[in-house]
Amino acid sequence: MQRFSDKTSWPRESTPLSRVRYARQKAGLSILDLTSANPTLQGFTYTEGTLSSFWQQGQSYNPHALGIAAARGAVATYLCRQGGEVTAEQIWIGSGTSELYAHTMSILCNPGDTWLVPQPGYPLFDYVADLAGVRLGHYALSWDGDWYLRTNALEEAAVTSHARAVVVISPHNPTGHVWTAGEREEVIACCKRHDMALIVDEVFLDFPVDRKRAVASCAGCEDVLTICLSGASKVAAFPQGKIAWGAVSGPGSDEFLARAELVSDTFLSTSTAIQGGVSNLLRAGACMQERIRFRCRENLSTAREVFAGTAVSVCPVQAGWSMLLRLPGMHDDAAWAMLALESDGIMTHPGYLFGMETVNSNPFLGVSLIVEPALFRKGVEKLARLVMRYG
Ligand SMILES: Cc1ncc(COP(=O)(O)O)c(C=O)c1O
Repeated sequence: MQRFSDKTSWPRESTPLSRVRYARQKAGLSILDLTSANPTLQGFTYTEGTLSSFWQQGQSYNPHALGIAAARGAVATYLCRQGGEVTAEQIWIGSGTSELYAHTMSILCNPGDTWLVPQPGYPLFDYVADLAGVRLGHYALSWDGDWYLRTNALEEAAVTSHARAVVVISPHNPTGHVWTAGEREEVIACCKRHDMALIVDEVFLDFPVDRKRAVASCAGCEDVLTICLSGASKVAAFPQGKIAWGAVSGPGSDEFLARAELVSDTFLSTSTAIQGGVSNLLRAGACMQERIRFRCRENLSTAREVFAGTAVSVCPVQAGWSMLLRLPGMHDDAAWAMLALESDGIMTHPGYLFGMETVNSNPFLGVSLIVEPALFRKGVEKLARLVMRYG
């Protein structure tokens, strides 16, 4: 009999929520998906002319493992505009942030080594870490009416886990937390004390709710080995481009880039056509960002209006494409999400998907802020009525 690896023996059963969704769809019942974070399905599309400028085809194929010069230069320029301090030589191009995470794990870790990742967090790391043979340790993002990074918890986790790297997601998905200057200093000091690399996921950097509170990119940080990750799937709302980047800086960055070059040379995964068009993509992406920021603010204010005076509270969002709702504690998050789906066809993300615990017995539901506004309003109004009925 054919044998398979232990590391890909992940459970594949669908969740109760997806089974009900599928059954509703099969029965021809409508679904109002408040979880859709795919910009191309929410009206954020480019004109044909703009689109074609993103792909610069050449007759010959001249790949470079770390990315062709035009792409690395365009990304460095973009990052410097965001307050980073990097040159093209520090940029590493890949096909997705997830791919760059996986390669970074392989470059930094032996099997069994640990990375520290935030909890709650977007469920991105588990599979990537399993494939790379890396264990995940967690440090808490805590809630006290707002989200904050518990730096003492990070220190404790660093001491007990002997981790090789810490991942900071700022802006964070799904909480919208953005690290403060103080948190950033303490995380860097912790990395220094424990010889850990710092991985900063900045995919939502361009999407502050309040522009005056936008923070600078961490790209170019020289205090510790730092890999700042981002990509066009969020920055330009162009996931089909399959292009992402890392900015590598700090002690050990030359060795890191030399190894990254070999790893990427093994796959050469990013199309040179999209790399040639990155400067056009980032230019057009800046306009798309404006539209998305507007959409997120509009939906956030709709949610605040609809849930005002109800038992649902809208958690503060500093940045990003998602919002968390706190619901009354008579049901847990899974039960609320199921009620919303079964009674009104509304899809939400129960907080447990992000590793969120119920705080003070109020469960969380996650909702996308980029959903088309009329649908978003309909969805949150139904949710508000549902909570009145069952809450
Ligand atoms: C915080 C964060 N990082 C990375 C990704 C994945 O990005 P990519 O499409 O570049 O792999 C996501 C996807 O939603 C995300 O939320």
